[in-house]
Amino acid sequence: MSTASFEVRFETLRGHMLSFLAERAEAEPEQAKAITKVSRRIVEARLPEVRQEPLRLPGHRHLEAALAMAQDGPMAEFAQAFAAVEPDLRWIRTEHYREKLGDDYMANYCYTNILGYDGLIPDDRMIATFFIIGPGRHYPSHHHEAEEVYFPFGGDTLWGQDGEPPRSRPAGLAVHNTPWLLHEMITGETPLFTFCLWVSPGPIKLAQLAD
Ligand SMILES: [Fe+2]
Repeated sequence: MSTASFEVRFETLRGHMLSFLAERAEAEPEQAKAITKVSRRIVEARLPEVRQEPLRLPGHRHLEAALAMAQDGPMAEFAQAFAAVEPDLRWIRTEHYREKLGDDYMANYCYTNILGYDGLIPDDRMIATFFIIGPGRHYPSHHHEAEEVYFPFGGDTLWGQDGEPPRSRPAGLAVHNTPWLLHEMITGETPLFTFCLWVSPGPIKLAQLAD
């Protein structure tokens, strides 16, 4: 782990998030509005005086494989900047999933909000997060009011949208979920590891599983 201060490590990560998003906003006009909105928030975001207590969940054990996988893709340096910051972050999960998805699923996934609820920088309308699901899992069809853009770091995850057959997606390119679009993810041999943005029209409401 880097011995630099948290602030220095965070500024490096901030720089990577912003340069990655600027390049993607240029390349992906369909998502440019959402990307630019979150980017502007990341530019002006200030670290809190008192940071949240770091927290690791069982799903965190997949991070090492996730980071190794990212090293083969176009977001390798971005992933390294995240790796230097994450020991100080709070990993969370959407607890209301436990009832339908079970303890096993809950022990194999987690995410950490840089921006958003329970996040490093609290925000009630936008999320910038790093999300992991272990191999061999199915995150079944779900949806939410917020517009969402995933940027996978790599791996063999199958991404499904709108009931279409799930398919693999290239590292670094957007998977765009418009508001309330049903989507699902199926992991294979690698973990799912993705950077993810949410832009909500009002205070964020958590994702809901399809019935
Ligand atoms: Fe989603």
